[in-house]
Amino acid sequence: MNKSTSIAIRLGTILLAAMPIANAFAGGPSDQTVAHRDRWNAADIGILASMHLGQLPQQPQDPSNAVEGSRAASELGKRLFNDARLSKDQTVSCATCHDARNQFQDGLAVARGIGVGSRRAMPIVGSGHSPWLFWDGRKDSLWSQALGPFEDAVEHGGNRARYAHLMQTFYRSEYEAIFGPMPDLSQSARSASPLGTPAEKAAWAAMDPKTQAGVNRIFSNMGKVIAAYEKKLTHGESRFDRYVQGTVSGDPSAQQILSQQEVNGLRIFMGKGQCVTCHNGPLFTDHSFHNTGVPPRDLRNPDRGRAAAIAKVQKDEFNCLGLFSDAKPAQCQELRFIVTGDHAMEGAFRTPSLRNVALRPPYMHAGQFSSIEEVIAHYVKAPTAVVGHTELANAGAGHSERRPIRLSEQEVKELAQFLGTLSGAIVEVPWKQ
Ligand code: HEC
Ligand code: HEC
Repeated sequence: MNKSTSIAIRLGTILLAAMPIANAFAGGPSDQTVAHRDRWNAADIGILASMHLGQLPQQPQDPSNAVEGSRAASELGKRLFNDARLSKDQTVSCATCHDARNQFQDGLAVARGIGVGSRRAMPIVGSGHSPWLFWDGRKDSLWSQALGPFEDAVEHGGNRARYAHLMQTFYRSEYEAIFGPMPDLSQSARSASPLGTPAEKAAWAAMDPKTQAGVNRIFSNMGKVIAAYEKKLTHGESRFDRYVQGTVSGDPSAQQILSQQEVNGLRIFMGKGQCVTCHNGPLFTDHSFHNTGVPPRDLRNPDRGRAAAIAKVQKDEFNCLGLFSDAKPAQCQELRFIVTGDHAMEGAFRTPSLRNVALRPPYMHAGQFSSIEEVIAHYVKAPTAVVGHTELANAGAGHSERRPIRLSEQEVKELAQFLGTLSGAIVEVPWKQ
């Protein structure tokens, strides 16, 4: 099967899935006496309905995290998320780079913690919908993801033995209320990790396996409570959602919610822009990885993206199949059936959600573009990829899978304006009393 049929089939599936949705929306026969400004055919209505926020299911349950539905866990997780004591020099918390007042991002091209990283921070809202975390998907759960920054030399810069001791000092009672008695740390070095500096590695190797397991247990539970907090974050309605609601249910006045330019942009998004082939569903992402030829930040050491991540997630001791996972092996389908050896993953990155995108420049995995117009100009230019092969069709390159994306200056503006309609509040879902 070539790529274009697979794209057509993917869209077809979206459409079929969306049809009953469109019907479910309709309150009754639409009022034909009032003129509709925007005419959409049945197929378009189906696609529009499939992108409405109401189609977003609850974030799927993670069988590898037994406490993700616990209120106590979520509350503790929120405190850990904001606690800068959990870093090498007590200056960095998760919130340093994921600021709740700033779309859970930092507005920087590449993140800055203890040191400077090589990729852009990602919004956390809705991440639980994706089977793979990070731009390259090198983690298979939210809780396992959270452990990465803690030990990353340029992010929190600490090590797991130190965190286990800090948890014992600051959060013992909260921890024990959720997980039961803390493992005994009396034999544990205060600073040790299998991933750290040579000294930290040596200290780790010198610890007995039982103490190592105790430290790992506390460390992995830190990730699990943070994931329980992150799962409470979700998107509120945008103007786009209100427009779709009105349009699908045949309310002509609701069409005024978007300007004519924004609607033109929406048509381009679904049509000649081909954006919807990757940015689809209520989060505007297919949760897959694509090479779109975004120029690497460091040309001498280009980022291989997904291709380099597959082996990492497979051998991660905190993955779904690992000792600290609460899942049965049969529940780890994504990891067990992970696709390896696919050349298309060379230089591929995860399709980001486009909800709230206008509120969080700069863009792409290393903040390569500072405005949405620049992003769209990239799609029109479709440059040759530095690593692997871009999926985008370059006008001169004779690609068969896709057509080149040709847009006038006016159309670029309208498309950017449309993306601005996807902004809404970020909601921390309250607990039922
Ligand atoms: C120094 C800045 C920095 C700090 C501190 C930091 N992050 Fe991040 N975060 C990033 C960057 C950069 C990425 C993307 C990295 C990549 O893809 O390699 C990211 C990605 C993520 C993702 C992935 C989202 C997705 O959809 O895949 C989550 C979730 C996340 N961080 C949560 C956390 C948590 C929890 C903490 C604290 C334990 C934390 N981050 C600390 C910068 C930071
Ligand atoms: C082949 C799949 C594909 C198509 C088609 C596509 N995108 Fe993307 N989009 C991606 C991927 C993958 C990324 C992340 C790339 C990276 O960081 O290297 C991305 C990133 C973006 C971003 C940046 C978001 C952020 O948080 O950094 C925007 C905005 C965007 N796309 C809009 C569009 C628009 C508008 C179109 C249509 C003109 C489009 N995309 C077509 C896959 C696609």
